[in-house]
Amino acid sequence: MIAGKEISLTIDGKPCKGALGQTILQVAGDNGIEIPTLCYLKNLSPWGGCRMCIVEVQGSPKVVPACSTPATDGSTVITNSERLQGLRRLTLELLFSERNHFCPICPMNKGDCDLQQQAYGFGIDSIRYPYLYPALLVDVSGKYFGLDHNRCILCTRCVRTCDEIEGVHTLDIGNRGVKNQIVVDLNVMFGASTTCTSCGACVAACPTGALFDKSAAFHGPLSRCQQVRTTCTECPVGCGLVVYTKDNRIVDVFGDAESTVSRGHLCRRGRYETWVEPRPRILRPMVRRDGHLVPTSWGDAVHTVKTLISASNHGQNAMLVSPRVTNETMRTLQKIGLRFDHIGMFVADKESALCTSPEFSTDAMKRLDDADGMILLGAQPSREQGVVAAKIRVAVRKRGVKLVILNSRRSDLDAYADISAPIVTLERKFWNRVGEVLGNVKRPVLIYGAAAMTAVGVTILDRLTKVLTSQCNGGEMLAPIQLPTSTNSLALAAGGVEPVEDISTWLGVQPVNFLYVVASDEPDGGARLLKEPHVRAFLEQIDCVVVQASYESALTDVARVVLPSAIWCEKNGSVTNFEGRALPLRAALAPSGEAREDNIVLETVFA
Ligand code: SF4
Ligand code: SF4
Ligand code: SF4
Ligand code: FES
Repeated sequence: MIAGKEISLTIDGKPCKGALGQTILQVAGDNGIEIPTLCYLKNLSPWGGCRMCIVEVQGSPKVVPACSTPATDGSTVITNSERLQGLRRLTLELLFSERNHFCPICPMNKGDCDLQQQAYGFGIDSIRYPYLYPALLVDVSGKYFGLDHNRCILCTRCVRTCDEIEGVHTLDIGNRGVKNQIVVDLNVMFGASTTCTSCGACVAACPTGALFDKSAAFHGPLSRCQQVRTTCTECPVGCGLVVYTKDNRIVDVFGDAESTVSRGHLCRRGRYETWVEPRPRILRPMVRRDGHLVPTSWGDAVHTVKTLISASNHGQNAMLVSPRVTNETMRTLQKIGLRFDHIGMFVADKESALCTSPEFSTDAMKRLDDADGMILLGAQPSREQGVVAAKIRVAVRKRGVKLVILNSRRSDLDAYADISAPIVTLERKFWNRVGEVLGNVKRPVLIYGAAAMTAVGVTILDRLTKVLTSQCNGGEMLAPIQLPTSTNSLALAAGGVEPVEDISTWLGVQPVNFLYVVASDEPDGGARLLKEPHVRAFLEQIDCVVVQASYESALTDVARVVLPSAIWCEKNGSVTNFEGRALPLRAALAPSGEAREDNIVLETVFA
């Protein structure tokens, strides 16, 4: 069989073209013929379990599932006949009879449930079979989502998503026959799972109300919400988001299937943390009077900042920005930069070394899909860039990719590695073993993070290159993928903004009496700047600190003026991801209170 060779078949009397290796469902879809499905989900392996997609193939006495039956050249397929409709209706009735599908009290009622939609489509308002109504568990022990076994139709979409997309295989089907049930790990409650990453991909895949987001439940159907496509700004991967909103509040957030970066997948940070975790917002400008920050108007706050900056000594002004700011804010910074004697961005430990010669890793996500060997050096994707970690797990588990991890901190990825070792100078025996593991690798990728930017890290990189060139078949070069942790740090560095790790040293180069901090929507409000006690003492000595931030924090405690800035879902513009792609930010909500986008605040203050 030559996969991809063109085939011709007739579906419902229509001549259709397809490619050898495609299923009947795929060929029908490509030719504009819709076949009902329930257990099928694009990008997952076909399962063929629900039997909603059955079709008749001329010459075959049995109906076959279109989602898992290959299309054959010259065949004739019927997708819609009285017999098929009767069988599909029977399937639906049996599904409804097996568990509690009492729609009015389900969080997916009124348009978000595929099962309900199918029932409407077949005109089902009652069923011919007795309800079994088993009393099954509603597991709401997980932080972000619940699992109501009563609504489950055992389609395994969640099981396959967890296994094939997130790569952890937390879920499976347990028990037998009518007692079949989704199980978490070795049959524990979701909240006790040791493997679940809370990525929420299983919830997004569930066609019923069995898996549901707690924060979205009973807030009205998503089908009646506004949808805005934007980009996650929690890390430099830049996954695509679809934000559902109603009455200027977020109802739910899903991955954008059309994103070229993430193809619909998200990690916990992008899917939940940004909107489910409560964070105290700064809603109005504030000016310090008699030792206390008091709310004021934008006009008064801007006037105060202008007065303070003009009173400050020439040569003693500095601005620090968060690496989360947009490209548009960066361009505004470039315009106003001359007003400041120093302008820098605060980055994580050792990240300044990554920013010194900023390299974008073109097509990194595709290269991760194609690699047959991966070396992870000083990067922690499980903690920082969850969607990259998912790709690594899937590569190892599904494609048998070789994985070598060199990191001083342990992570769940160690369990998937052929070799895992701390970043220290290692012996010859170790490098021989690395050579054995990577011996047949043809397309190795090196994924390195800030922790690799040490003298030992550079020595290790040198040894790795030698091992690969001397011991691996073909002597392929390592294709490096640089993995910073800050959202837009590479773009800012490429735009000339200096990375700063040690704030007090940077500010202490010469005395500073006016400091303007653009903390933007740093989740901790920029408090990480004050992690070291001596930095706080240092900032307290500065005559005037202005803080532009979205969230209250210890940083606002040392500010003379506080200006409220918009958060991720209130921003327009773009960020540049670690691959060098400029990705769009589209505001899903109007800014809360009197907050404004960072570049608008800066243009107003420095006009
Ligand atoms: S949240 Fe993610 S990791 Fe957890 S069970 Fe669902 S798909 Fe698997
Ligand atoms: S929980 Fe949802 S996705 Fe998983 S098997 Fe049940 S119905 Fe299907
Ligand atoms: S991997 Fe990064 S960009 Fe993607 S969802 Fe997670 S935090 Fe957001
Ligand atoms: S969609 Fe084909 S068997 Fe379920």
